[in-house]
Order: sequence, then structure tokens, then C-alpha cells
Amino acid sequence: MKATSQPTHRRFRYRDSVALRRDIARLELRIPWDDDTGVLLAPITVGSRVLPNRLAVHPMEAFDADAGGAPGEMALRRYRRYAWGGAGLIWFEATAVVAAGRSNPRQFYLHEGSVAEFEKLVAAVRQAASESWGMRHNPLLILQLTHSGRWSRPDGTPRPVIVHHSPSLDRLIGIDEHHQPITDDELQVLQDRFIRAARHAAAAGFDGVDIKACHGYLCSESLAAFTRGGRYGGSFENRSRLLLETLQRVRAEVPGLMVTSRFSAYDGLRYPYGFGVDRDDPDRPDLAEPAALLAQIRGAGCAIANVSMGIPYHRPYLGRPSDRAVPGDPQSPEHPLVGVARLLEATATLQQAWPDFPLVGTGYSWLRHWFPHVGAAAVRTGGVAVVGVGRMAFAYPDFARDLMEHGALDPHKTCVACSGCTQLMRAGDSTGCVIRDTDVYLLPGTNRRRRRA
Ligand SMILES: Cc1cc2nc3c(=O)[nH]c(=O)nc-3n(C[C@H](O)[C@H](O)[C@H](O)COP(=O)(O)O)c2cc1C
Repeated sequence: MKATSQPTHRRFRYRDSVALRRDIARLELRIPWDDDTGVLLAPITVGSRVLPNRLAVHPMEAFDADAGGAPGEMALRRYRRYAWGGAGLIWFEATAVVAAGRSNPRQFYLHEGSVAEFEKLVAAVRQAASESWGMRHNPLLILQLTHSGRWSRPDGTPRPVIVHHSPSLDRLIGIDEHHQPITDDELQVLQDRFIRAARHAAAAGFDGVDIKACHGYLCSESLAAFTRGGRYGGSFENRSRLLLETLQRVRAEVPGLMVTSRFSAYDGLRYPYGFGVDRDDPDRPDLAEPAALLAQIRGAGCAIANVSMGIPYHRPYLGRPSDRAVPGDPQSPEHPLVGVARLLEATATLQQAWPDFPLVGTGYSWLRHWFPHVGAAAVRTGGVAVVGVGRMAFAYPDFARDLMEHGALDPHKTCVACSGCTQLMRAGDSTGCVIRDTDVYLLPGTNRRRRRA
């Protein structure tokens, strides 16, 4: 499937599921559908653990840590709501492993001085889960570890750390050819920092850590370092080395902690700057290398992986199909259903290559209250093992609960893909849902009472 231009963007305007399915058929997209969503509520085995259901909260950073990177009251509120909501897997947000690698001064940062607050967060989430659902409901808690790479803004201004030059992204952040990429030795030291953070994560009580390799951040950029020399550039073996070695080292050096990765299967940059991209056509994913990467992730002893796409600052619609672009960003050139289908298809291709290796899928929030029908069909047809939502979880943290208790989602509680959460984030504010959680989050200039009505 081509990635852009056809057919043009449309907002979500479906009166009923028949109209949605008619559009899917009209656009000739492979987005499956099941009336019965029960499969999402069945447990699934992941490594030595059994998840109570196949629903996940994706990592969603909200920039509400204190100046030292420790989660505080707002983070406790967010994660308790997820636990109360009942999802079987809670994938905690991007957490920096070094201060310089934060994307925002209020991003989570895990180190010796903040580990005690992370421990409180984990304890609060486990308590909320067991009080709400009983001792047998034990969601898997994974923490995403990251270095923000070229998108680092630890003091609120750009401090890019690049793995290689990339003309279109260099232009976006205003750097030229004199900006030096991180050296091989520095990458080696950084790997040690990931291991140190993984030890802290184990001490804090997380079940596992994710070495983040998606959305153009440092490990993700390294996968596309075709133009770099040395140990970490050029061949596929070299480009995947940083991620692979880090996964292997966590496994060997922090026994008992699960390790995994959320990776971008396609980032939409042209060759030789993009990963998972057709060499002749950047609009077309080529999953040969992502499939090889997945085999390596699995071989490194991971029990699960999470598949995403895109770079939020470049072509955001690849990773988060939306109704509205963030002000200042160009509107998506494609129908959001095309984006949903691309994410689902890529995940299905990878999942079908390794049916016994559970993948968490992305791309469901734009479908509103109908996402469980698509997710259930994707699970039933072997296209994914666990269905994850990001923006939906900000808006509707109890989506899993409603599915369990009422057999359906409430259309008045869903994400509306308005990009308000991203807009707050870009403004440097703490973020959440500006439509459904207006007691806490509002866009500047918005009237709280009007929003509630
Ligand atoms: C405000 C915001 C924060 C996000 N933070 C993270 C993050 O910390 N780590 C990550 O891997 N993805 C992050 N994402 C991407 C989401 O996890 C998810 O992949 C994306 O929103 C698409 O899924 P959805 O359609 O269910 O929202 C973020 C997205 C948004 C809008």
C-alpha cells in the first residue's frame, strides 16, 4: 500500500458502524471487523506471566515529573486510573536514562535519586489494580527507557544528539553538517546507562523494561544509520547493534527483569535515512529489515514486542492518525483510515511471521468506540496478540472496564483524535485529554464549562 496522498484526509463522521465499514470497503483497506469482542478479554501468556486480558495502555508521556525526573501526584493519578481501568498491560511512558537525553525538563528520568518515587508509583498501581479487580488481576508493568536523541530538550531548548545526519530532520531542528554525531565510545557509555536504569527499574518493582527504538529517538535513529561508519553504522548488523546489545545485556545483567522493545517498523524517511522504507519509494514500507530485527529481538530473549511507526515531528499521521493536525503542522495528506490500515497491516505481517511471539499493536484510537471490533478481529485473524491504545487511554482510561462490564465502549468517553494532547506537549505543558479530562487539562483559552457541556 502507498503511504501518502490517496485518498485525501477526512474527519471521523460515521453515524454507525455500517458507514465506517462501508468506507473501509470503499477505500479497499484491509481493516478487519468482528461483532464479537470477547477475544480481547481472554488471558494471554507472555513469558512466565499471564496477562488478564489482551488490552494494553501504550506509553504516553505527560511531562509531569519534578525537576529531578521523579513521578509525582499527577503521574500517580494517571497510572492509578489505568490500573482501575483494567487493561492487562500497562506500558509506562518514555523515561530518560541520562539527564541530557530528556525530551522535556519534566520528562521521567530514572536514576538513583528518583528510584524511590518510581517504587511508590509501581506500588500504587499494583494496589489500585488489586483493590479494583482482586489479587488475581495482575497487569504486566513495563517501563520504557529512552534517550531522546535529536529531539532532546533537557532544559526546554533543543540539545540534539544525532546518530547520523538526515537532511530533512536536520532542517527541522536547525542543525548543519558541522554538528557532530555521537561517537561510538559515547554510545558504549550510553549503553551502560540503559543497564543502570534497568537495574533501578527492577528495584522499583517493574516487571520489565522496554529499550525504546521507535519514533526517531536515539535507538530508533540508529536503526537507520546507513551513512554512519564504525560499529554502529552501515550494515544491518551494525545499525541494530545498539538495540540488540542493550537487550542482551539487560537480560544477562538484570536477571528476573523482562526486557522488550517498542520499535518503529517504518519511519517514512527516504533511503538512506529511513528504517523499514522501500529504497526507491519512501512512501512504501519495506518490512524485510523490521522482520529481521524482530527475529533478533525475539532471539535476545524478549517475550513480547510492541510495533509502532513514524516520527511525530516529521509525518505525525504515520504513527497517530488524527482528525486535526497540531497547529503549525501540515494537515495529513491521507485519509486516517489509510494510516490505521498501514499500522495494522505491518503488525499483522510481522505477527504472522512469528505467530507464537506476542506483539502489541498500535493504531486504534482514531476508530473511537469501535476500536475493540477491529482489535478483536485482528487478534482472531492472527494479526496481533495484544491491542494497545495511546491517546484513547488519556481520554478513556477505563475503556477495558467498560468492555468487561458493558460489552461495549461509550462513544461519549472516547478520544476524538483532536491532537490537543500533543498541542499541550509541544507548548511544554503537562499533558492529558483536553476533551474528556478537563478538570485537569485544558488548552490555553478554552472555557472549562463550555468543554464539559
Ligand atoms: C502526548 C503523547 C505522548 C506520547 N508518549 C509516548 C511515549 O512516551 N512513548 C511512546 O513510545 N509513544 C508515545 N506516544 C505515542 C503513543 O504511544 C501511540 O503510539 C500513538 O498515540 C498512536 O496510538 P493511538 O492511536 O492509540 O493514540 C505518545 C503520543 C502522544 C500523543
